[in-house]
Amino acid sequence: MRLGMIGAGFISKFHTLALTQVRGCAVTGIYSPAGAEALQELVQSKRVGTPRIYSSITELANNVDVLAIFVPNPARVSTMEEIAEAVKAGSELSGVICEKPLGRNVTEARRLVELAAEAGLKTAYYENQLFMKPLKSQMQQLELVQNRMGPLSLVRSSEEHAGPHNAWFWDPVQQGGGVLSDMGCHCIAVGWYALTPNGKPLTFLKPESVSADVGLLKWGRPEFRQRLLTRFGIDYAETPAEDFATGIITYRNPETDQLVKAQFTNSWMFEKQGLRIFADGMGPGYAFEINTLLSPLSIFIGDEAAETILDTESSLEKATASRGLLTIQPNEADLYGYTDENLETFAAFEEGRDGMLPWTYGLEITRLVMAAYMSAEKKMTLDLTDPAVEEELEKYVPAIARGEGASQLF
Ligand SMILES: NC(=O)c1ccc[n+]([C@@H]2O[C@H](COP(=O)([O-])OP(=O)(O)OC[C@H]3O[C@@H](n4cnc5c(N)ncnc54)[C@H](O)[C@@H]3O)[C@@H](O)[C@H]2O)c1
Repeated sequence: MRLGMIGAGFISKFHTLALTQVRGCAVTGIYSPAGAEALQELVQSKRVGTPRIYSSITELANNVDVLAIFVPNPARVSTMEEIAEAVKAGSELSGVICEKPLGRNVTEARRLVELAAEAGLKTAYYENQLFMKPLKSQMQQLELVQNRMGPLSLVRSSEEHAGPHNAWFWDPVQQGGGVLSDMGCHCIAVGWYALTPNGKPLTFLKPESVSADVGLLKWGRPEFRQRLLTRFGIDYAETPAEDFATGIITYRNPETDQLVKAQFTNSWMFEKQGLRIFADGMGPGYAFEINTLLSPLSIFIGDEAAETILDTESSLEKATASRGLLTIQPNEADLYGYTDENLETFAAFEEGRDGMLPWTYGLEITRLVMAAYMSAEKKMTLDLTDPAVEEELEKYVPAIARGEGASQLF
């Protein structure tokens, strides 16, 4: 299948690396206001296509089978509107992919779902962590034990690093919040998915309540605010976003009435080697644990040798150190699930169906992220079975995402 990438930044490059392990698709087109040439070069050097650079989304849509929305969050809706227009005007696309988060709030995520449905497009919401091989493997390994003993009752999931690579992520209005919007969506999805009993659909467990808290623990301090201002032109004294978020979502099993819990923790103030994805789960008499900072490979670089290192991120995503004993992940694209999400998506689109995670699922995740923000803002546990709460969430935009988070965070 001919893939067209919209956006040519960090995630487009990561997917290009993943595609070296995927058969049956080639990157044949790119549209991006910046970075298109560098991405074109990478795609060619990795032999996953010989893409042309197009000057509009419509032109790109007319020349590929699948479009991937890899643009910053504020450009989601306008990008999808243009895709839908192109389809109306005759583009013969099979499917459309959208990176997390589907929207900065429920209104935006719902708009994306509606536009795709009106255009008759198959959809795939890219939540890579559900495709991580360790997560899948623990499910397979523990399948018989779970069938005998009963499902998991607690999952804890976290993703943390030292902070994002581009200014727009830090700007709460552009991004839709802070770390909860950016990475909470991963961990909320992992918790829900990992708790779901074998063989049950994605949304089988019914969200019952959420209790969350957010904080600005590092990047609100004067010296770190100054660094953000100097590096990205973002002023957290005026418009701060949270750099720490945690919460517990309780789900009800509709067949047994059992209550189970998923705890999530996310931060942009993780003072260790680099990105860490961690999850563990407890069932009756069994458990699993995933920690992406444990690798069969570690290397040591002394001070003198470190002077020759130019790019710390060549060892690990968001790496913060270039010397000492370092953890190396030789194949991050595979470890974090990008390979398997692409494999599954292209197979699905070829068979004329939605990906394993359709956009309607992305909308449910956005709703839970918004519920977590609302719980933190109101300092209360939210009852997700209450129709009044459901209605409020439809139009809710967190104070932090409106640029009014100072009173909550300081
Ligand atoms: N799954 C993950 O773990 C993961 C990791 C990183 C980013 N992401 C998601 O991917 C998306 C992109 O993030 P990124 O890190 O690549 O950002 P980035 O800032 O590195 O790159 C964004 C790219 O989009 C281009 N762009 C900007 N506005 C555009 C527009 N209106 N139309 C088309 N292209 C436009 C930019 O020129 C740039 O090439 C975000 O939504 C982010 O949440 C997901």
